[in-house]
Amino acid sequence: MIRFDPLNYRIVLSAGLLCFGLAATTAQAQTDAEFQSLVDKVHAAYAPLQEGANADYIPILTETPSDLFGVVIVTREGKVFAAGDVDYEFSIQSVSKPFTAALVMSEQSPEVVREKIGVEPTGLPFNSKMALEIYDERSVNPLVNAGAIASVSLVQAKSEEERWNKVLQNISDFAGRPLGVLEKVYESEYTTAFGNRGIANLLYNYGRLYSEPEEALRVYTRQCSIGVSARDLGMMGATLANQGVNPKTGKRVMPANHVPELLAVMATAGFYDESGEWMYTAGLPAKTGVGGGIVAVVPGRFAIAAFSPRLNAAGNSVRSLNAIRDIAGELGVGVYGPNP
Ligand code: DON
Repeated sequence: MIRFDPLNYRIVLSAGLLCFGLAATTAQAQTDAEFQSLVDKVHAAYAPLQEGANADYIPILTETPSDLFGVVIVTREGKVFAAGDVDYEFSIQSVSKPFTAALVMSEQSPEVVREKIGVEPTGLPFNSKMALEIYDERSVNPLVNAGAIASVSLVQAKSEEERWNKVLQNISDFAGRPLGVLEKVYESEYTTAFGNRGIANLLYNYGRLYSEPEEALRVYTRQCSIGVSARDLGMMGATLANQGVNPKTGKRVMPANHVPELLAVMATAGFYDESGEWMYTAGLPAKTGVGGGIVAVVPGRFAIAAFSPRLNAAGNSVRSLNAIRDIAGELGVGVYGPNP
């Protein structure tokens, strides 16, 4: 016969809670140690990898020392686990794109992103002009150049200065510190931006750009020239992992209920024409940039970011993508289940 004995119950309950507490503390300590040893391990594993080449269509990017390599995990609580060159400042490039899309979602709505830009992957390179001709949405999604130029044109502003200040402030808020522009990168890209100028003008022609084209091009190019470190990218990703609140500053940077839509676009288009391969092997929403940075998000938990300038043919950093994919695999954190 089972009889309820309040005294024994309390003792059993306290012992149970104590065990749970110990287990939780141990698990936490193991996780911290595991995070640090993993970033150290992948950094050591991929540092010798020489594959790929610095981007050269933006001339100054050839001058970034190719051997730089940093890997970082930043948790939603703001804990940082770092290896290598995580404080070197490089240009954010396309890693900026989802964060400005987040600003459009916050200022207006995710519907505006869907209707005025689009949310389909193109299956084509990031600077494709053909995508504008074959898809009715023209811009197609906010992570390719066309959609990102459309994003800055949708930022609500009465002047170019206001548009730029909002873009910079927003990305700084995600990073949790005031960021600035690498002026030499801006000069180098803006003076050679013939392809992006063509894209901006085509979008305008099709009624899919919402500000004057040259203004959108300038603000977009400045956005891509913002200087960040791998540590900053980690904090930006951790803000998404933390449902839109920056773990360092405690500031809400975007509404929690729009984070899933943003991560969905990063999952389907964050690696451009390599997005399928990336989701197949790593299983995490992520964004890459031709500066060599990549950030991936484990929703609700942490971000993994890396920086290394040598890129593959799709414009994605070779060491960074390998490092992040391995960390995701070893921790078993792919969003569809652990990847092998
Ligand atoms: O517009 C461009 O071409 C660059 N500012 C950004 C491209 C980029 O980073 C593509 N990413 N992998």
